[in-house]
Amino acid sequence: MTESWVNSAERVGADLHLELSGPGGRRAALIRALREAVRSGRLAPGTRLPPYRSLAADLGVARNTVADAYAELVAEGWLTARQGSGTRVAERAEPLRRAARTPVRVPPPHERGPRHDLRQGAPDASAFPRAAWAASYRRALRAAPSEAFGPGDPAGRRELREALMEYLARARGVRTEPERIVVCSGFAHALRLLFGQGAGGVLRGPLGVEAYGLDFHRELLAAAGVRTVPLPLDEHGARVAGLGRERAVLLTPAHQFPTGGPLHPERRTAVIDWARSRDAVVLEDDYDGEFRYDRRPVGALQGLDPERVIHIGSVSKSLSPALRLGWMVLPERYVDPVLAAKGEREAWASVPDQLALADFVVSGSYDRHVRRMRQRYRGRRDRLVAVLAARAPHIEVTGIAAGLHAVLRLPPGTERSAVKAAAWQGIALDGLAAFRHPRSPMTAGEGLVVGYAATAEHAYAAALDALCRALPPE
Ligand SMILES: Cc1ncc(COP(=O)(O)O)c(C=O)c1O
Repeated sequence: MTESWVNSAERVGADLHLELSGPGGRRAALIRALREAVRSGRLAPGTRLPPYRSLAADLGVARNTVADAYAELVAEGWLTARQGSGTRVAERAEPLRRAARTPVRVPPPHERGPRHDLRQGAPDASAFPRAAWAASYRRALRAAPSEAFGPGDPAGRRELREALMEYLARARGVRTEPERIVVCSGFAHALRLLFGQGAGGVLRGPLGVEAYGLDFHRELLAAAGVRTVPLPLDEHGARVAGLGRERAVLLTPAHQFPTGGPLHPERRTAVIDWARSRDAVVLEDDYDGEFRYDRRPVGALQGLDPERVIHIGSVSKSLSPALRLGWMVLPERYVDPVLAAKGEREAWASVPDQLALADFVVSGSYDRHVRRMRQRYRGRRDRLVAVLAARAPHIEVTGIAAGLHAVLRLPPGTERSAVKAAAWQGIALDGLAAFRHPRSPMTAGEGLVVGYAATAEHAYAAALDALCRALPPE
């Protein structure tokens, strides 16, 4: 049953279309229709409703049906009935506010959001080892003593620190013991702990940094009041001979971020000598040390002098940046200050996650996953290099021996337009300039920093195709 009524303007002040339909008879249908008209704002607060008789006549229902419906809605508070002024829509019956409609505009391709994510930084999220991680989590929860679910030790779970000690010694050449390892939520957290806010930090500036680096880390340091001094880079990495009165230096020795080379062996020893002579410390950001392809592994700088290097790593590249788990391997003198900076209880790194990671490492799942991903990323890198050799042979690709990104070298004056052209092709990526320290004394030339890990396997070919279309012609 469906009946409708369009009232005239003088009766209720506005056109109103009521449909009496649905279950429960006419009275229930009329109540629903009127309630909906008020709720949607079609009947504004204060509007006078038609008298029973005329509405009944218009709808072809009994007068009592209308009277009952009005009474019900008065009882519910949708309507008010007053002697002499009839039945009106209640003033406090708030109509549903609809979101203002903005006119539909079809954005040009570069504004539609990227279809291909070639930004550096993230691993392939579709390859997260869900089953193995879940198995580790289950085993860890079963084996955990009850105290593991109480407040956490700010140093981190001993199970994890022992597992990391063994793993880092074997895979990265780190020399340490569990007492020197402090678990944190990743590299960014380690920086916050070390430099704190204002004068309360473990370390103080000025801090030497590579002239090209992650802007997020530079901003974090600036927010903590740390003055950073950019060190020029060349094909051998940071020119550490330029270090002088800085109290610390932050380096990416295994794989300079973002240009891609390892720190030359002579510079590795030179920076340790500098730290010894100045009573300074080297911060080693070992962000993707596991991913090396063609060259011999570059061990951790920390192995050269565990008392002069703070080695910092995380699972952000090897597993997932969503886990927020990392570690600091500290010289003895920094252990207590860092623990003091963390506070009395673990406030960042989830203890069950720590236990799961410990199991993941000890059970061999971590090694297996890293090996599998290394193969996958090497394949991605090889495809990138092969596609460019075929379709853009004039573009040199550098920084390809390790890591999850490469740098495509561009002729002077073309980087900005290439980044724009990439956006038009639906590609998200950055140019080298995005990583340059604002006071950098040098430029590393122009180029595109292409992350080849984040794109899902099935989407990679299309991403490479779009990338080739964005490159400047010969
Ligand atoms: C240069 C560099 N350092 C460190 C990290 C790791 O940061 P976090 O452990 O805070 O996720 C990243 C990103 O993954 C990076 O690009």
